[in-house]
Amino acid sequence: MPKIVFQTSGLLKSFQMGSLEVPVLRGLDLEIREGEFVAIMGPSGCGKSTLLHVLGLMSSASGGEFKAWGQDVGRLSQAKRTQLRRERIAFVFQRFNLLGVLSAWNNVAMALKIRGEHPDHQVSEALEEVGLAEKVRFKPGQLSVGQQQRVAIARALVCKPAVLLADEPTGSLDSENSRTVLRLMRRLHDSRAEQTTILITHNPLIVDCADRVLEMIDGRIKE
Ligand SMILES: Nc1ncnc2c1ncn2[C@@H]1O[C@H](COP(=O)(O)OP(=O)(O)OP(=O)(O)O)[C@@H](O)[C@H]1O
Ligand SMILES: [Mg+2]
Repeated sequence: MPKIVFQTSGLLKSFQMGSLEVPVLRGLDLEIREGEFVAIMGPSGCGKSTLLHVLGLMSSASGGEFKAWGQDVGRLSQAKRTQLRRERIAFVFQRFNLLGVLSAWNNVAMALKIRGEHPDHQVSEALEEVGLAEKVRFKPGQLSVGQQQRVAIARALVCKPAVLLADEPTGSLDSENSRTVLRLMRRLHDSRAEQTTILITHNPLIVDCADRVLEMIDGRIKE
């Protein structure tokens, strides 16, 4: 049985709004194993992005249990959590979040540089893998939205993360580009031994790509 990457039990997350505490994750139980491709679906506002931020060690839970790679995240220092995130987790966002002044090559290279690695052949290889070998010198504004999201995927995967987290990666794309991107993400997932992918989406096409679809409602995973 592959090892467990993320495990939550009774996970809680609330936001403080002045004197009001707004609960968002309300006792969420989840187990994700290495190598899985898991989709999370659910109505707007049910807490999907909030959950992804917690799993991605971008924000901390308010209560409950959360283990990442067997380690109790609540007990880790801020520095250790940041280190884990940098070394093992990559993100893809709905709006790509590319740097407009940099070429596709430099956007991907940046991911390596901020980790102190020297960008080299792996940058072109990553762009080739997403079908953009011809566009390495193009800036985001000179690319279609589908191409921009593929640059963002290359940027996420160039560091060979253990976990890829994607928050509505097809949310800004038309149906044809959405199909291409989802299939690409599945293919890249399969070509990387042990990569775990967790993807939030409203796109029904995901049913054909994911190993498992979790349905979220009101801050919990539906049974
Ligand atoms: N920083 C914050 N401060 C206060 N409330 C927040 C904050 N972030 C999220 N929320 C609230 O948490 C709830 C869940 O938000 P979240 O972004 O996780 O939903 P979602 O399921 O991703 O929705 P969507 O499908 O629309 O992206 C919302 O009601 C939102 O207002
Ligand atoms: Mg969201």
